[in-house]
Amino acid sequence: MADGGRNVEEGRTTRDFSDEESRQETDDEKLERQYFWKVIEAFLYYKEYSLRKLQRTKENYTFLPRRHKEMLPNFKDHLKKIEQCIEENQKFLFKIVSETNEMFENRDSTTRIRGAPNDPASQPICGFDMDKVTTTMKQFVRDWSDEGKSERDACYKPIIDEILRLFPMPECSSRKDISILVPGAGLARLMFDIAKLGYTCQGNEWSLYMLFASHFILNRAPGKYHTTIYPYIHQTCNNRSASDQVRAVVIPDVDPTDVPDDLNFSMAAGDFLEVYTEQNCWDCIVTCYFIDTAHNVVAYIENISRLLKPGGYWINLGPLLYHFADVANEWSVELPYEDIKRITTECFKMEIIKEQTSVPSGYIENERSMLKLLYDNVFFVARKPL
Ligand SMILES: C[S@@+](CC[C@H](N)C(=O)[O-])C[C@H]1O[C@@H](n2cnc3c(N)ncnc32)[C@H](O)[C@@H]1O
Repeated sequence: MADGGRNVEEGRTTRDFSDEESRQETDDEKLERQYFWKVIEAFLYYKEYSLRKLQRTKENYTFLPRRHKEMLPNFKDHLKKIEQCIEENQKFLFKIVSETNEMFENRDSTTRIRGAPNDPASQPICGFDMDKVTTTMKQFVRDWSDEGKSERDACYKPIIDEILRLFPMPECSSRKDISILVPGAGLARLMFDIAKLGYTCQGNEWSLYMLFASHFILNRAPGKYHTTIYPYIHQTCNNRSASDQVRAVVIPDVDPTDVPDDLNFSMAAGDFLEVYTEQNCWDCIVTCYFIDTAHNVVAYIENISRLLKPGGYWINLGPLLYHFADVANEWSVELPYEDIKRITTECFKMEIIKEQTSVPSGYIENERSMLKLLYDNVFFVARKPL
């Protein structure tokens, strides 16, 4: 574990970058490098992209007949306010990118800030990559704001209550011996809350959007409520009021650095199936809105069952919105919950010791929107045989 603390390990790609120039880059390494720069570029391109979109809104307004414009006396001021929010969001995203240098050695992202690499494969694809940036901001609301508390209570609290029930040692010192893995950790709030209770906790995350952002919030931003973001300015439909669209969200609701020094807490970067291969080493694996990120969910279940110690627990909460379903050039096998349950119990011989098949929650929902998506999640705890 890097520095024994809250650092990011690059799970699958631990290698000596100093040798890199002296040998040929493999195709995988090239793709990885291009992806790294694409994400950096996406964070930095946010303002330009957003202002361009806003420009179209301004142009559309000019199509209105004068008498209709007169009926909308605040419209231009509202657009001005959105422009200011874009500026503020960009400052925040710039800070995140500035902090990425220490995460991965030999990758100086500030070179781009000074105007560096120009590889077309590293350029963000407008809609797709910009969506990832705006989703990252909404993820901050879920994980690190007061507004996100209702989602955290619906999704994280049942998991944490279950951990406390399964591993009830009262003293933090004895909780340290319990190792908990959180694959698909997102912006790391669930793993942070687990580690704060004293358990040894490692998150695993594949997306650099998430890794950059969680690194910033966990390691580089002391204090509470230090940053203001405007995550909803891009939502132009289903707003009850203009002020809802430009409302500020202040993060974080807790000080992520206010933790004991000996907290056993880390993040491993990379694909869950590639980073974790060692058998029988985790007391508990927690998956929250994660298992449907698989191309092949059976491979996830197989890996979970392999990684758990005999008698260890898998706690899962989430829907089955398979991420690769109907995505061009990606393969995906989409199974219903009954198959997941059968494979877990019959093929991997795990015992379901708790099951709730209807746990409602939103996921990065705008609580003031006139349109909301409600997931009716499954929640279960499975135990690997002794
Ligand atoms: C829907 S999000 C859930 C995040 C978090 N658990 C939560 O509840 O807010 C799924 C997360 O899994 C990550 N992910 C997807 N595939 C992964 C993989 N193969 N290995 C590790 N993380 C992965 C995604 O990048 C994303 O952050």
